[in-house]
Amino acid sequence: MNLLNAHRQAMKFLQSALLWVPCCAALAQPLPLDVLHWWTSSSEQLAVDQLKAHLLFNGMRWKDAAIPGGGGMAAVKVLKSRVLLGDPPDVAQLIGTTLTDWNDMGLVMPLNNVANRQRWSQTLFPTVMKLVTYKGVVIAAPLGIHRINTLIYNRHVFAKLGLIPPANWEEFELVAQKLSAQGVKPLAWSDEAWQIATVFESLLLGEVGPAQYRDLIVKRKSPAWLEPGIEKALTRLRWLRNLSGDTPRERAWTDATRDILDESAAMVIMGDWAKGELMAWGASPEKDFGCAAMPGTHKMHLYSVDTLAMLWNSHKRTSAQEKLAELVVASPTQLAYNRVKGSVPVRTDVDAANLDSCARDSWTTFATPGNVLAPSLAHRMAADEATKDAVAQILWRFAISPTMTTKEAQRRLALAVRTP
Ligand code: GAL
Repeated sequence: MNLLNAHRQAMKFLQSALLWVPCCAALAQPLPLDVLHWWTSSSEQLAVDQLKAHLLFNGMRWKDAAIPGGGGMAAVKVLKSRVLLGDPPDVAQLIGTTLTDWNDMGLVMPLNNVANRQRWSQTLFPTVMKLVTYKGVVIAAPLGIHRINTLIYNRHVFAKLGLIPPANWEEFELVAQKLSAQGVKPLAWSDEAWQIATVFESLLLGEVGPAQYRDLIVKRKSPAWLEPGIEKALTRLRWLRNLSGDTPRERAWTDATRDILDESAAMVIMGDWAKGELMAWGASPEKDFGCAAMPGTHKMHLYSVDTLAMLWNSHKRTSAQEKLAELVVASPTQLAYNRVKGSVPVRTDVDAANLDSCARDSWTTFATPGNVLAPSLAHRMAADEATKDAVAQILWRFAISPTMTTKEAQRRLALAVRTP
């Protein structure tokens, strides 16, 4: 699938679309809002462009303070140093526990007025509303819901070899065997710690089920990490990692995703921002690639919700910050942003028929009562930054070094999750 031309055309279209966005608002030259985030890949930039366009249409400007680094590893550190230097941005991509931590330090502006005016509690998914509400105060504007337990496969490769997306691990093993026999690498992989953690939590959910996942990840019950289900999940993680050969390779998530585009691998396990990226490169979720739930996680949604927090600083831009919060949650922005980002709207009043096949499945799974909604540890929905990093480091060490036994990894994980 050589899609370079399609990609160029898509970029041209977007650039011209942005030029059409209001002349007159731009003339007013409002002071820009300084926004710290980690969206720097092709699709992430397109998604930010959508936000900028909607803001500009409403007479506001967005100035990027974009810190590259998948999963926000570097951005979180830069934010910390800016705060220490007394120069917090106006807006920051703070998600999950980083949000509540910064709020506890008095840095985050409450958004109850906006939320009440816009009836967020009626229009947003209850899980999302709960996530942005802390001690009764609304502390962030939600942008989109990513599904972490996503298996993306190349439709052309699967069709050529008569394969269907695997629904369980037995099927996955068969598919992997057939692909290997034809000289196709079954799974794109990166040894970056946050990406290993992203794969692991998806397979953990499928392996141990939602109740034990909750004990392990949300309640962080230390002894639960010593149970046999974890050993199975760790063994599976190492097996998946070894499908890619022995040499550790820490690649950006975009490189692992590109393997699917150029057919150097048939599948990738990644949050659905990878879908957004493939689309930004011109690939279509209906024709070129497909999304399936990670084996064993049908009807489960392992989520990460992207949110923007408005920070207190000396710029005194409260009304612009509130306006931004209002705009990003409004339906038109939600649809435009999520369409390119790969995530799905945080709103319940969406017509799923208008979403692409991956998004439709994600949004419907999230919206259907009785389905499992599980928070992501790797993406800060369940534990503080230090615990998340400690867990990711252990998983990384375990995945790349054959000498660490599963028992040893379990012992270390049980220690790492213990609440202080
Ligand atoms: C996640 C974030 C996504 C995406 C991804 C890759 O943490 O929620 O929006 O950007 O990292 O950087």
